[in-house]
Amino acid sequence: MSIQRVTPDTNIEEILAIIERDAAVVIENILSTKDLDDIKNELKPYLENDIEGDNEFTGFQTKRVGALMARSPKCRELALNPTINTLSEKFLEPHCDGYQLHFTSAISIGPNETPQILHRDRGVWGGYVPRKIETQLSTVWAITDFTKENGATQVVPGSHKWDKNRMPLDEEIENAEMSAGSVFIYTGSVMHGGGANKTSENRLGVFLHYAPNWLRQEENQYLSCPPSIAKDLEPELRDLMGYSQGGYVLGFFTDPTDTEGKFESVSPKKLFGEDIDRFKIASSEELVKSSTKKN
Ligand SMILES: [Fe+2]
Repeated sequence: MSIQRVTPDTNIEEILAIIERDAAVVIENILSTKDLDDIKNELKPYLENDIEGDNEFTGFQTKRVGALMARSPKCRELALNPTINTLSEKFLEPHCDGYQLHFTSAISIGPNETPQILHRDRGVWGGYVPRKIETQLSTVWAITDFTKENGATQVVPGSHKWDKNRMPLDEEIENAEMSAGSVFIYTGSVMHGGGANKTSENRLGVFLHYAPNWLRQEENQYLSCPPSIAKDLEPELRDLMGYSQGGYVLGFFTDPTDTEGKFESVSPKKLFGEDIDRFKIASSEELVKSSTKKN
């Protein structure tokens, strides 16, 4: 089963039907050359500094850069892409009343990298979520061209419906080949993995994944993009990152500096609202002092 390719103006329901059927689809040529240059420039210092992986899963010639919401304005735009967000909402909504950003990473597969083991991303929750619940809609934005030779993501379309232990035949494994500026969409239940890079160039992709708002995020967004940075981001993006409630009481916080208990069980949205000056980040020493004073 080959990977279906659509254009940015393809009807959302049509794209959704392909995702439901194959758990894999490419939307071609969304980003402009300028978008791609901006992303490369914003990520360059981190890709130069970060070290390669050190095991078979993360690879030995592969660099990963996370915290993209804190580090890259252009990646923030990608995270908010309207088509992707509509697809995430529609795909995940049977299992939740909202979704959140789950994972951000720029992954650069270097020359001589071997293929990553095929896996299903839903494994991050240890297999405790029943398979009838879809846990993830994932995107890989191609910042360079993705070819079979340079490490285009391997995927087994349709394997989201397979028995868990069925392994693919070689001819069932496809490569998400696409030109720079395109995006590959896959789900948490489909078998996939990074491809081998047999060229002399790096293959760069930006990975942004979405999950129901009641699941723990793979990348801790509050540490990767703490309030001191998040306060300057768009409210819509903060909500997406989880600076919002994932249900009636899910995700509230209490300001530990509020020794008088005036602001218990506060919505994270308040952190950036008119009360912003009320919330401060205290050192643990200060907190101990203030509680000692009270006693
Ligand atoms: Fe994966």
